[in-house]
Amino acid sequence: MMQVQITTMAVLAIVTLLLVALSGGGVGASGFRRTATAGGRYKLQSVVKEYANKQGFEAKLAVSPSSGNDPLGRDIGSLSFIARIEKSTRLRLYISDAAKQRWEVPQSIIPRPTLSSDLEPATEPVLAVTYTTQPFGFAVTRIATGEVLFNSTPPADGSAKFNPLVFKDQYIEISTQLPSTATLFGLGESTRSDGLKLKQGRTYTLWTTDIAALFPDIDLYGDWPFYIDVREGGTAHGVLLLNSNGMEITYSENSLTYRIIGGVLDFYFFPGPSSLDVMDQYTQLVGRPAAQPYWSLGFHQCRWGYRNVTVVKNVVENFRKANIPLDTMWNDIDYSDRFLDFTHDEERFPMKEWRGFVDGLHANGQHYVILIDPGIGSAYDDYQTYKRGLEQDIYLKTDDGKPYLGQVWPGPVVYPDFLNPNATPWWTNEVQLFHDQLPFDGLWIDMNEVSNFCTGTHCTWNGTIFPDGITSCYLQCTDSYTNLDEPPFKLNHFGTHEKLGHLTAAMTVTHWDGTTEYDAHNLYGMSEAVATKKALTEVRQKRPFLLSRSTFVGAGAHTAHWTGDNKATYDDLAYSIVTVMNSGMAGIPMVGADICGFYDMGTDELCSRWIQTGAFHPFSRAHTIRDNGNKELYLFPKTTVSARKALGLKYQLLPYYYTLNYYAHKKGYPMIRPLFFAFPSDPETFDVSYQFLIGDHILVSPVITANATTVNAYFPKGTWYNMFDHSQIISKGENLTLQAPWDVINVHVNEGAIIPMQEGALTSTAARKTPFTLLVALPRNSPLSSASGEVFLDNGEDIDMVLKANQSTYVRFKTAVDNKSGTLSSHVEHGEYALQERWIVDKVIVLGAESAVSVVDVNGKPSQVKVMHKEHNLEVSGLGLAIGKEFEISWTFA
Ligand SMILES: *[C@@H]1O[C@H](CO)[C@@H](O)[C@H](O)[C@H]1NC(C)=O
Ligand SMILES: *[C@@H]1O[C@H](CO)[C@@H](O)[C@H](O)[C@H]1NC(C)=O
Ligand SMILES: *[C@@H]1O[C@H](CO)[C@@H](O)[C@H](O)[C@H]1NC(C)=O
Ligand SMILES: *[C@@H]1O[C@H](CO)[C@@H](O)[C@H](O)[C@H]1NC(C)=O
Ligand SMILES: *[C@@H]1O[C@H](CO)[C@@H](O)[C@H](O)[C@H]1NC(C)=O
Ligand SMILES: *[C@@H]1O[C@H](CO)[C@@H](O)[C@H](O)[C@H]1NC(C)=O
Repeated sequence: MMQVQITTMAVLAIVTLLLVALSGGGVGASGFRRTATAGGRYKLQSVVKEYANKQGFEAKLAVSPSSGNDPLGRDIGSLSFIARIEKSTRLRLYISDAAKQRWEVPQSIIPRPTLSSDLEPATEPVLAVTYTTQPFGFAVTRIATGEVLFNSTPPADGSAKFNPLVFKDQYIEISTQLPSTATLFGLGESTRSDGLKLKQGRTYTLWTTDIAALFPDIDLYGDWPFYIDVREGGTAHGVLLLNSNGMEITYSENSLTYRIIGGVLDFYFFPGPSSLDVMDQYTQLVGRPAAQPYWSLGFHQCRWGYRNVTVVKNVVENFRKANIPLDTMWNDIDYSDRFLDFTHDEERFPMKEWRGFVDGLHANGQHYVILIDPGIGSAYDDYQTYKRGLEQDIYLKTDDGKPYLGQVWPGPVVYPDFLNPNATPWWTNEVQLFHDQLPFDGLWIDMNEVSNFCTGTHCTWNGTIFPDGITSCYLQCTDSYTNLDEPPFKLNHFGTHEKLGHLTAAMTVTHWDGTTEYDAHNLYGMSEAVATKKALTEVRQKRPFLLSRSTFVGAGAHTAHWTGDNKATYDDLAYSIVTVMNSGMAGIPMVGADICGFYDMGTDELCSRWIQTGAFHPFSRAHTIRDNGNKELYLFPKTTVSARKALGLKYQLLPYYYTLNYYAHKKGYPMIRPLFFAFPSDPETFDVSYQFLIGDHILVSPVITANATTVNAYFPKGTWYNMFDHSQIISKGENLTLQAPWDVINVHVNEGAIIPMQEGALTSTAARKTPFTLLVALPRNSPLSSASGEVFLDNGEDIDMVLKANQSTYVRFKTAVDNKSGTLSSHVEHGEYALQERWIVDKVIVLGAESAVSVVDVNGKPSQVKVMHKEHNLEVSGLGLAIGKEFEISWTFA
């Protein structure tokens, strides 16, 4: 232990404008004791470079004194610290070895400005950096308010205990002070037993792992080192650590500590000030979420164990008979021959019949998705996909230069190295060859953490073929572990501190350019998603749909996601609500959970509750494991009723969802949002974990407990209308008990919204052809009020989702009301497309129209429309107004 000298505090302004004086309680430390193994301390020696346009600087840090070679390794002697204002709303802080290039997330995975890129001058930066020289520490401040958002120097008053920067080859530690007014969200992926908000005392392990989602609070499939911090009053900022190495992030009282086993510190700060602004700023860097095809927002049915094409056909037919919408049918691995990708079992899925089935789906406006896994079976001489991959030399390798052998469903497998530029053309060719036989519409890429049934640095196969589907390892594996498999700092992998290579490719396995799995492990699923999106786009020449289990920040730019292998329990239903919101905040908004649970059968009532929730997630798919009996929605009476109701409403809301999809793609806004996104100044919303908003306006309050007939739900201040019966709630910002018998899902729209809706149908293809209804929600008891909403329309599957003449239409609707009259008007951008499709608005429902209506005019003329006034609602039908032409509807109160 050693006493640390009083810190000298230096404040360097990047631009004179940025000069921010930190108050005494901020940077500056004395008397802080550090733990023996923490490493040396760094001192800022000198500023060695200033960027043009005063956009930042580079400084040298030197370790002083060094801790020598402590158990976590030797301190790196000299570091570069680079601060750069990349845009007015993006600050980058980078720390790495000054002498040697270290591993960084490749540009092929997340294209972004390099440290030497020329940048446009940032005119009015929102954030500033300050630093202390010894021990070195930095702080990020919001210029306008002086608020400190991140501060890596331990506080002088001991109110938070942590070490200053530690930087070793395999151990990097950095912390930030957090005021008691901070509320944090994010840092995934994991199943959260304790709700949405991050909790003090928790450590979040970020390491992509094939472990079932039913296990809460441990590492899981994805790696999302990004958080949103909402401060008192509702101002939000985001912090991304762009690093793909394994890490643990501990949230203590008044501080957050990162412990990372490699790579560089590459922090990006996004100033908000709203959570949606943070998402916009963050996805501008990591990638805007991929546009999703229209049909993918409809209902999907899957199960593992649909053994033959007859079974699959019957399921599609049964949905139709039960009057439950079905857009997309799926097959898990069952269709394949010996579990090999891009093959089929001719006995169970005869190609002619199978293709006929898929053509039939297409003729009915439905779609079809199949699963593939990254493990390429290597045991069979007749397997051409494997052989072509060998010829292209694109598999992960061991140190002896041979493909690394693992074992998954097909038995012995090798793994494509999707970081290798030659892997994508090979993969695209395989997708093309199979698609030529069977025109599937999307691909499901599973098991890409990457999963392995064996653990070992070198495995061989003795030639014995085992029966299908064995999950215990039968390869002969040896362990010659190095410090990569067993680094000095042990991540809490699997929640049991397993070796990093446990049930995945060994850490010493290398990629084409020598990159080790130790560094790139967390990018495996993301790299497969990048390759698969390219392949599908090229092969289908339509907007691609793919679903990936493993993800990294930015994966949303390529793929949809589901929450993984859950269980048919009420707890899992609750977890799914939180994970779906977390995925949206990670920039992966197209997400849902296995509806009714993957493991176990569950009950009719649980399944009924689950479809009531899952219907409203953007990606809505039922899926279950092979060992279960059939559990399609129509097999359970209560579930059938709930499915018709919940999916019925989802299908009516498809234009609203699709417009959210457009905003997700354009701005990174999650489709499903936590309540605090829309009500940031109401701190009660920070604690709401099990209700969610669709966009900003529709609140879903599901039942997540057994046998409940009511639900306690928080309603932010304002008027809310039930989407099913238009009954109203006027909330002061309070918890309310709502009736929720088994067939009731509470879905409410709030004041100020105009929701574009169409009619329900059994497919989205059919629903899109129906007339529109505009649902206008006004506040009660407010003589002057307004509402607005918008709709984006295109053909739903063009590769680009952009506003463009003759290809898409965007309409903004506005309502203004006083106590005498009201108007609803539309403002159209590029109406040609909507006119060509002949979409019309047939009905307008104004919720909260206070008194009886005497006259309704359309485009300034009295019209023959049908007007009904029920209680507080006005309903005008028979309008027949083209959506592609501007209109105005006005009414006068009696
Ligand atoms: C398809 O599988 C089902 C369920 O396993 C079975 O009952 C049926 O006989 C099979 N049909 C054909 C044509 O193989
Ligand atoms: C091959 O390995 C399996 C699993 O370890 C073992 O059961 C089997 O006996 C071995 N076969 C031969 C021929 O060595
Ligand atoms: C729900 O009701 C069922 C059937 O009455 C009962 O078996 C079960 O224990 C109840 N569960 C809870 C959590 O109350
Ligand atoms: C609403 O209920 C939650 C959970 O019981 C509670 O934490 C919160 O304080 C309540 N909010 C209000 C405004 O009563
Ligand atoms: C849109 O289509 C119309 C009719 O075909 C054509 O006259 C017009 O030039 C097109 N506009 C654009 C911008 O392509
Ligand atoms: C209508 O609104 C105006 C302006 O807000 C107000 O002065 C007037 O009293 C209101 N009339 C009624 C009948 O509420």
